[in-house]
Amino acid sequence: MSSQIDHLLNEDRRFAPDGAFAADAVGTAELYEKASQDRVAFWGEQARELLHWHTPFTEVLDWTNPPFATWFGDGELNVAYNCLDRHVEAGNGDRVALLWEGEQGDERRVTYAELTDEVKRLANVLEGLGIGQGDRVAIYLPMIPEAIAAMLAVARIGAIHSVVFGGFSADGLRSRIDDAGAKLVITADGGYRKGKVSPLKPAVDMALADRNGSGVQESVEHVLVVRRGGNEVEWNDERDVWWHDVVPAASANHTAQPFPSENPLFILYTSGTTGKPKGILHTSGGYLTQATFTNRNVHDIHPETDIFWCTADIGWITGHTYVTYGPLANGATQVLYEGTPDTPHPGRWWEIVEKYGVTILYTAPTAIRSFMKIGRAIPAKFDLSSLRLLGSVGEPINPEAWMWYREIIGATTTPIVDTWWQTETGAIMISALPGVTETKPGSAQVPLPGISVDVVDENGAPVGDGNGGLLVITEPWPSMLRGIWGDPERYKETYWDKFAEQGYYFAGDGARLDEDGDVWLLGRVDDVMNVSGHRLSTTEIESALVGNEAVAEAAVVGASDETTGQAVAAFVIIKQSYLAAHSPDGLAQSLRAWVGEQIGPIARPRDVYIVEELPKTRSGKIMRRLLRDVAEGREVGDTTTLADTAVMSVISAQVR
Ligand code: WTA
Repeated sequence: MSSQIDHLLNEDRRFAPDGAFAADAVGTAELYEKASQDRVAFWGEQARELLHWHTPFTEVLDWTNPPFATWFGDGELNVAYNCLDRHVEAGNGDRVALLWEGEQGDERRVTYAELTDEVKRLANVLEGLGIGQGDRVAIYLPMIPEAIAAMLAVARIGAIHSVVFGGFSADGLRSRIDDAGAKLVITADGGYRKGKVSPLKPAVDMALADRNGSGVQESVEHVLVVRRGGNEVEWNDERDVWWHDVVPAASANHTAQPFPSENPLFILYTSGTTGKPKGILHTSGGYLTQATFTNRNVHDIHPETDIFWCTADIGWITGHTYVTYGPLANGATQVLYEGTPDTPHPGRWWEIVEKYGVTILYTAPTAIRSFMKIGRAIPAKFDLSSLRLLGSVGEPINPEAWMWYREIIGATTTPIVDTWWQTETGAIMISALPGVTETKPGSAQVPLPGISVDVVDENGAPVGDGNGGLLVITEPWPSMLRGIWGDPERYKETYWDKFAEQGYYFAGDGARLDEDGDVWLLGRVDDVMNVSGHRLSTTEIESALVGNEAVAEAAVVGASDETTGQAVAAFVIIKQSYLAAHSPDGLAQSLRAWVGEQIGPIARPRDVYIVEELPKTRSGKIMRRLLRDVAEGREVGDTTTLADTAVMSVISAQVR
């Protein structure tokens, strides 16, 4: 880590905003001025300007009961109306909302008028299935237009969606359905991934099967199924409904009712430091305000001319905010791609950029690094000249990847915005404004207008420019999480207790301020790993491992990885009886597969090291820092606090 920091500190390349770009940019320096005069009034103005309110609000922020915030409390709006109907009513119904590309090369263009129609029909179907305000609907779909329609239809009727990433296993899906008490699951037979159909419905069936004895009351009444993969699926006549049987037949008349600004919009599960994923709760008015504002000003959206492409899956927060809500509220045209970046060939993304004339691309450092690895010859085969802005999200972007992105993808002229935020923050918090900020490769740089952050020490004292510490958010913001579903105590404990005295939100990230006060993110400071921009908890993977009958003990660390940022490295102690009967390689392979089944393929360890002991302190705490040294091939650090100081040499010897 320290060599990485030194490296960053020596980064002195600077890129001033391009004059022509700046002249036409949506976000201007005036925004900072306005926000600094009166932060709360500034957000009130944005909310009024960017959204349609059925009932205008009179109070912007109520922060009298921290950390529970109310934004635009007495206002009422309909989120789906803001993303759909109002554009049609303004005469933009023929504008394309979604340029959808299937992995196989099939395509669909969906206009705002068509998407509005589809969402109205679906809203009628959902109501017919007994879904109403406050009910939870789980969405487990591939990246197809129906996924966006599903989210918006749920929002339209004031219900709450919980999108579960299609890569999660039946177990992952089950725990999320149960925690939220979902009444309906919307899924597909399957979707295309890496050239073949990857089934989804069977996982839903498994998640809902055999609840007897589990002690959990089955909450799901219906499963609505889109036909996409064409794969054979089992059918439960009482529970399952085909989308194509009910949606096209439903009426396309549906009036969007107003809901309170604080009506819950969605729950999205994310990994924390414990084994149990937490359901991050977001509400309507504040979330949509900041989603729309950031997409407009950071991504510089000109809805009449831009073709926006955010490559994230809707199973992650980036897909919620910058595929579904931000771009549609702004009335933008965007690309939606179903498949993987390298199917059927490694230039697939660049082919899509060329084909649709993508102007703004928003993706993750891990993707950029894997493209770097396969070389510039591949993007060079395609015409990328339509690109005028590039964005990065999800993990720190190293200066080399930043420069490659700019030079190879952006033809050395395209500005890059490195955007820091989290599932919990709901929308971008720290980023350059592309027409205003002089950018620095590797730094997320400055809080957005209306956002206040700082870097502090363990006691909450500001470290000041030139120093490192913990990143905090010092003032409430519109798209902040409103809690953890069903667990208000955990919400306070996780985010607010650490700096309770100052009233700061603790983000869980280390950061440094440079001499100009710009923020450089340094990664998580807790037991959360970041693998390819996906958050994984060490504890969650450890509990999956010890759930295997061969495993006696397990410790998991995030080891740095050239491509994925971090990779999962597991150290396991195998029970004697299994060690005798199986080869270490066979055991390691089967444990990797096991974790994949229990949590999902993204959690599969890169390395499984079979060891005899784990390094523990006298009080029995596993010293993961030492294991990380081993996994990263470094000399092992200070071992003096170990109960048995010899243990690390044994482990190192075994691992080599
Ligand atoms: C990390 C993704 C550095 C960070 C939107 C954060 C970043 C976690 C950046 C949230 C960035 C996200 N630079 N680190 N630009 N963006 N992170 O909830 O550690 O999936 O806490 O939200 O990703 O991950 P999440």
